[in-house]
Amino acid sequence: MRFFYARPMGTALVTGATSGIGLELAWQLAAANHHLVLVARTAERLESTARRIRAAAGVDVEVLPADLATADGREVVAARIRRDERAIGLLVNNAGFGLGQRFVGGDTAREEQALAVMVHSVLVLSKVAAESMVARRHGAILNVASVAAGTAMGTYAAHKAWVVRFTEGLAAELSGTRVTATALCPGLVRTEFHASAGVDPSVWPSIGWIDVERVATAGLRAVRRGQVVCVPTLRYGAIAAVLKVAPRALVRRVAGPGASARALL
Ligand SMILES: NC(=O)c1ccc[n+]([C@@H]2O[C@H](COP(=O)([O-])OP(=O)(O)OC[C@H]3O[C@@H](n4cnc5c(N)ncnc54)[C@H](OP(=O)(O)O)[C@@H]3O)[C@@H](O)[C@H]2O)c1
Repeated sequence: MRFFYARPMGTALVTGATSGIGLELAWQLAAANHHLVLVARTAERLESTARRIRAAAGVDVEVLPADLATADGREVVAARIRRDERAIGLLVNNAGFGLGQRFVGGDTAREEQALAVMVHSVLVLSKVAAESMVARRHGAILNVASVAAGTAMGTYAAHKAWVVRFTEGLAAELSGTRVTATALCPGLVRTEFHASAGVDPSVWPSIGWIDVERVATAGLRAVRRGQVVCVPTLRYGAIAAVLKVAPRALVRRVAGPGASARALL
């Protein structure tokens, strides 16, 4: 709740805004006087979140129930981003989930859903937002990736690596347009993420966890600075740096599909 933009971004649209990192980003943006558009699948949870934020922060909050794994859901959100009235100044592509399964023998539909939410939706919504923002010469896109992007932890790592590379390319293409793109790469954050993936969070030591408020604050600060890649906390910054230079055979061994990456923490 301690974040303030030097320059107001108007209305922010946050996907996955009912829980965890997206919810905290929404609260911090509301505290900085942004109007909000909240996106997730569960309409009642969106409504109750919106009521609480409106009452506490006095900002306008629209809700947009949409399943970003579907073309219809993505189009509902894309149509809102295209709208000029109360234009979106900040798009936060945050919705995502852990698969909680191996690729070989895992559920194919779940794999396709993960790709759709964490890659396809990020691509479609970023394109619509970037085009609208460039036309207005103002705006920012914040894509939530993960420090897992540097690991070999299955398709989740591959999706997050795509988000980082995509954001880097987008940021370079947007240079000089007054529109920025930022990838936020958190480490472990206590949210509903692990329970919904069926993963036992106790496999990681308590020292590995970062406070959700700290992650959201770092992400929004990076947006304000026009930073392209943000890895919150020194510890995870160091881990990300090691993952970049470490031999990939070693990364596959300590941070591959079977590993809990305890060795990295
Ligand atoms: N927690 C971590 O340790 C961690 C670490 C690094 C990166 N991340 C990334 O951070 C982002 C947020 O995760 P979180 O930890 O905050 O998880 P979370 O607490 O489980 O929240 C996920 C949010 O995404 C929404 N969502 C899920 N599937 C959706 C879909 N198909 N369409 C629309 N919305 C959907 C959920 O709402 P509904 O279920 O109502 O749709 C919820 O609001 C994700 O991209 C995740 O990969 C998390």
